[in-house]
Amino acid sequence: MDQNALKEKVSRAALEEIRGDVREDSVLGIGTGTTADIFIDLLCNSGIRFRGAVSSSERSAERLARQGVKIFDLNDVDGLELYIDGADEITESLHMLKGGGGALTREKIVASAARRFVCIADGSKLVPKLGKFGLPIEVIPMARAQIERTLLQLHGAAGKPDIRLRQGADGKPFTTDNHNQILDVHGLFFDSPVTMEEHLDGIVGTVCNGLFAKRGADVLLLARESGDIARYLRPV
Ligand code: 5RP
Repeated sequence: MDQNALKEKVSRAALEEIRGDVREDSVLGIGTGTTADIFIDLLCNSGIRFRGAVSSSERSAERLARQGVKIFDLNDVDGLELYIDGADEITESLHMLKGGGGALTREKIVASAARRFVCIADGSKLVPKLGKFGLPIEVIPMARAQIERTLLQLHGAAGKPDIRLRQGADGKPFTTDNHNQILDVHGLFFDSPVTMEEHLDGIVGTVCNGLFAKRGADVLLLARESGDIARYLRPV
């Protein structure tokens, strides 16, 4: 099966995963990316009734709103039962790298408000160890060069990390929904993901990093190439 078919398959599996937990007064946390897009479209046509959604990006909010879903500000809801989102890389411990779509900060915020994080991914996203994808870090623009210097002192497995300022389609620095920029960092060493996330959290001028280890996913639904869905739970 091709990657899009796998994304659709896993999104359908996610509907069955959450169906029993969604009530008419539920507000759902919804993520960002091509897998989340497919999930949104299927959810909106699933007949599952829910009150609305908190979204991790303007892009997903628009897609949801176009299909009649009421969008809530996270400040106006009392926590979320569920957050459904994709990942760029995920391990069997359900630690993730996220932020390929640039929405990492809002994704981490919405995930932290949710009781259960259901990650949906095709088989290419499961890795034995994080790091090949590169770690996105959202930075306050005035702090960018200072943060690069700090990161260069963090030697990775391959020596000094390779740091690139993310560009948008127009060739200018990519701007997040929060009006910040993103550094994509390759070559960091993720043997202790929680310790690394804590360390990165402490770098002044960063808004957020795309390492989701302290709050990983609770459930991973993974569509393997064969089309089978594997279900992983966060180790206790
Ligand atoms: C966006 C994300 C996405 O979840 C991640 O990039 C996966 O995207 P896709 O489903 O398109 O492969 O973190 O910021």
